[in-house]
Amino acid sequence: MVFLIIGGSASQKLAAKVARELEENLSPIETRRFPDGERYIRIKDEIPKEAVVIQSTGYPQDENLMELFLILKNLKSLGVERIRVVIPYFGYGRQERRFLSGEAVSAVIVAELLEAAGASEIYSINLHEKNIKEFFHIPVYEISAMPLIANYINETVDNPMIIGPDKGAHGFAQEISEILNCECDHLEKTRISPEKVETKPKKLDVEGRNVVIIDDIISTGGTIVNATKILKDLGANKVVVGCVHPVLVEDALLKIFAAGVDDVFSTDTLRSDVSTISVAELVASYLKKYK
Ligand code: R5P
Repeated sequence: MVFLIIGGSASQKLAAKVARELEENLSPIETRRFPDGERYIRIKDEIPKEAVVIQSTGYPQDENLMELFLILKNLKSLGVERIRVVIPYFGYGRQERRFLSGEAVSAVIVAELLEAAGASEIYSINLHEKNIKEFFHIPVYEISAMPLIANYINETVDNPMIIGPDKGAHGFAQEISEILNCECDHLEKTRISPEKVETKPKKLDVEGRNVVIIDDIISTGGTIVNATKILKDLGANKVVVGCVHPVLVEDALLKIFAAGVDDVFSTDTLRSDVSTISVAELVASYLKKYK
């Protein structure tokens, strides 16, 4: 065994697929809870000098993060010298600055804690904010899932037009449209509160077209519902929705389908009913590249 591959509770299937791609075995790790909810971790394999730990830190963020800290610190204290941490979905990535006085900048705090716990390198898929990388003093490799998403659209949607539901998603729509050589545009969204967004109607030439809305994260679904209503009102034929990270809190998926969306797909950075595109091969290729 060259290195340990450990899958945290949030990323077991993805970790198994990455291990298969790397032709390594997934390490048996015992992770359970004490009756009061506290997490118990035990690594059952022999301990080499190197490990790859795969764990998304999304919904429920705190539990997955705590488990990751326990795994990392444990590996470090068992003598592992290089711990490569794959965080397919980097939770706590939204608060990356102090908007109001007194606010905790949680992205910075999480970055510092990951380093202090023993991470040597971070690999993550489409970070929510680009500056998160700067919060670390260790290498951070950000991997784009857009080529995988473009490939999926190419196979499933006829003559698509790609729409970002807000300005922040325009880059994703553009990356895909360049790969597929198709049109793209974006809508203008204003966030009123964590649960409420407003989207401005815009004149878009989508009548009779198959439109694919692309975002990095779907959380409450509000952003997608608003965008879908606008596109349907403009006469779009099919509205398909794709994202990288399907956070999908509570009944988000129901709300999206109720708004008239024809299909929803995402990658498997998080487990969900719509996680049809696997990032395993892509992650494995980066782990090989920086071996
Ligand atoms: C915002 O900047 C993100 O890219 C997503 O648009 C947002 O997280 C979606 O949130 P929700 O699904 O709650 O509207």
